[in-house]
Amino acid sequence: MNAPRIMAADATGIAEAAAMIRSGQIVAFPTETVYGLGADATNDAAVAKIFAAKGRPDFNPLIVHVKDAPAARGYVRWTETATTLAARFWPGPLTLVLKRLPDCPLSLLVSAGLPSVAIRVPAHPLAQALLAQADRPIAAPSANRSGAVSPTTAAHVAASLGAQVPLILDSGPCLVGLESTVIDLTGPEPILLRPGGLALEAIEIAIGRSIASALDDTNHPKSPGMLERHYAPRASLRLDAEAAKPGETLLGFGPVAPSGSVNLSPTGNLDEAAANLFAMLHRLDESAERIAVMQIPEVGLGRAINDRLRRAAKRG
Ligand code: TXA
Ligand code: MG
Repeated sequence: MNAPRIMAADATGIAEAAAMIRSGQIVAFPTETVYGLGADATNDAAVAKIFAAKGRPDFNPLIVHVKDAPAARGYVRWTETATTLAARFWPGPLTLVLKRLPDCPLSLLVSAGLPSVAIRVPAHPLAQALLAQADRPIAAPSANRSGAVSPTTAAHVAASLGAQVPLILDSGPCLVGLESTVIDLTGPEPILLRPGGLALEAIEIAIGRSIASALDDTNHPKSPGMLERHYAPRASLRLDAEAAKPGETLLGFGPVAPSGSVNLSPTGNLDEAAANLFAMLHRLDESAERIAVMQIPEVGLGRAINDRLRRAAKRG
């Protein structure tokens, strides 16, 4: 298989990527959360190429990236809560699920049969430049093979997708390192569908009330992508470890981790841990058979880190 072409995400790279998006091809590009595998969200055939490249067994709905909130409002039924959240957190690692407008020009494939669309305004300047030059909404899931750990570097994308992706724009490691937080605004109350790179507490403060999680609520339909075992490294994972047992490699957290071990954040900073999570899992997965992960507090970005770790720890 040929290696994918990797270009620096400079003016030349972005012009090339934008032209490819406009002509219905797929391109991997950096966002502040993880690398995305993008296609013109108004082009069915282009969106279908994303599913083919990822090897997705089913058609999970995709996040549509747009340049700003007014652009989003052209596609979905906007709400008051959406106004509040968009004003406070866009551009940034927050995805809002809203009802499609009747004449919504987005491909039905991005919704995978649902009457809603997940939409987000990315903060990464290169993602913004690509949106501006392509002049299209861009559908993009994380740029990894289905079921694998999300990519936070161009090298991760190349290793996971190979020549399935014709072009990767490289702009170094992603700042946030975890996928966006997904909030469902289609019902009477906002629901957390996926904990992610924006802390739930910050969202709750912005709207002045607590938000229920679809992960705890058996009555609420889950976000389709949250049903599968996801974020799977090859090695096995043991969580809430105090120390590594014989044969295990430790993934530490905080100052209590033995010095010399791979540490998500030696100072115990959850934002730093989030940014390091996937890169360290990728790295350990190359050599370790069994990974023991130290306990991560269930607050702030710790919720999303623990969510990804629990999924990664599930076998079969
Ligand atoms: O940070 C991110 O969100 C990255 C970057 C590239 O933006 N994208 C990403 O996309 O993580 P993906 O496809 O790996 O995850 C999208 C999540 C899935 O859990 C999916 O089920 C959910 O969003 N989703 C998408 N559309 C939805 C919809 N209409 N209703 C409910 N959930 C939806
Ligand atoms: Mg993904």
